[in-house]
Amino acid sequence: MNTADSSEIIKKLAEEKGSFNRDIQKVSSAEEVYKLKVRYIGAKSFIISTLGSVGNLPAQLRPAVGRETNTVKKEIEAVLNQKEKYFKSLEFDHGLRKEKIDLSLPGKNMAAGKKHIISAVIEEIEEIFVGMGFEIAEGPEVETDYYNFEALNTPADHPARSLHDTFFITENTLLRTHTSPVQIRYMEKNKPPIYIIAPGKVYRKDYDISHTPMFTQIEGLVVDRGINFGNLKWVLEKFIREIFGKERKVRFRPHYFPFTEPSAEVDVSCDICSGSGCRTCGGSGWLEILGAGMVDPNLYRYVNYDPEEVAGFAFGMGIERICMLKYGINDIRLFYENDLRFIDQF
Ligand code: DAH
Repeated sequence: MNTADSSEIIKKLAEEKGSFNRDIQKVSSAEEVYKLKVRYIGAKSFIISTLGSVGNLPAQLRPAVGRETNTVKKEIEAVLNQKEKYFKSLEFDHGLRKEKIDLSLPGKNMAAGKKHIISAVIEEIEEIFVGMGFEIAEGPEVETDYYNFEALNTPADHPARSLHDTFFITENTLLRTHTSPVQIRYMEKNKPPIYIIAPGKVYRKDYDISHTPMFTQIEGLVVDRGINFGNLKWVLEKFIREIFGKERKVRFRPHYFPFTEPSAEVDVSCDICSGSGCRTCGGSGWLEILGAGMVDPNLYRYVNYDPEEVAGFAFGMGIERICMLKYGINDIRLFYENDLRFIDQF
């Protein structure tokens, strides 16, 4: 290589720089910057191959060519680095903006389980009675004939037995037809004063718009000194107004139950017609919601209480019926079909 070669090189370097300066104006991404990097200072570029062959130049030319090539390389490198940084940060910002979470979007609907309406109403009723000082008791669903009938003043030949379509398991065991046997079981184990309610499942061979073979009752029992019918009325009126609303009227009708004397059925005024009579209340203006009465002193024989010392009252109600009246449900079977369109409404 001679002097002419070296000035050729210097001129070509200047051209490379000029061309780079034009190209760099047009880039619009880090990727394009990279392409220019390969082209101008990549392994096969004029600048890098020139640097690699400086050693082949005559000794007196080497310093000038070497210096100039290096200077151009560094200038180009500096511009490339700066541009690369700029586009990378631009692209990073853009990426962040694209990935931004929009907190105002509606969330995904998670299907969470919740309490069945029957469980919720049982809890509501429990709260009302616990608020009046009652405790919660329980008894078995598989019961003996003795507790379900016999000790409740319903001997084998008693006509009231035909009211119950009982699921018998053996001659003497059965699925309880009501929660009343809890009265006897609790009195056997405890002495007065007694203030309990006993919620639970009961079973009868029945299936139609107002009966399912399994349903739910809540039993109530109070035994203490000096308990009278006025106490029963006060407790039930308070309960009914709390569960159905203050404006509802309550009425007691004489009735018969084997284990209470006197007995009554309790009605609440129909809120669909406000008592003037409609289809729901069968034109009477009243809806029957529970059975109640003074504990028949005869029962105390079975649990060794002295009827001269204590007196009590009892009541029993169907939870499904209370739910149906409270929420205007017209078919009891809906509670147990597990159709989410029904269950989700509560
Ligand atoms: N056990 C009765 C039934 O299933 C309901 C009942 C009525 C319970 C009067 C009572 C009561 O405790 O006093 O039909």
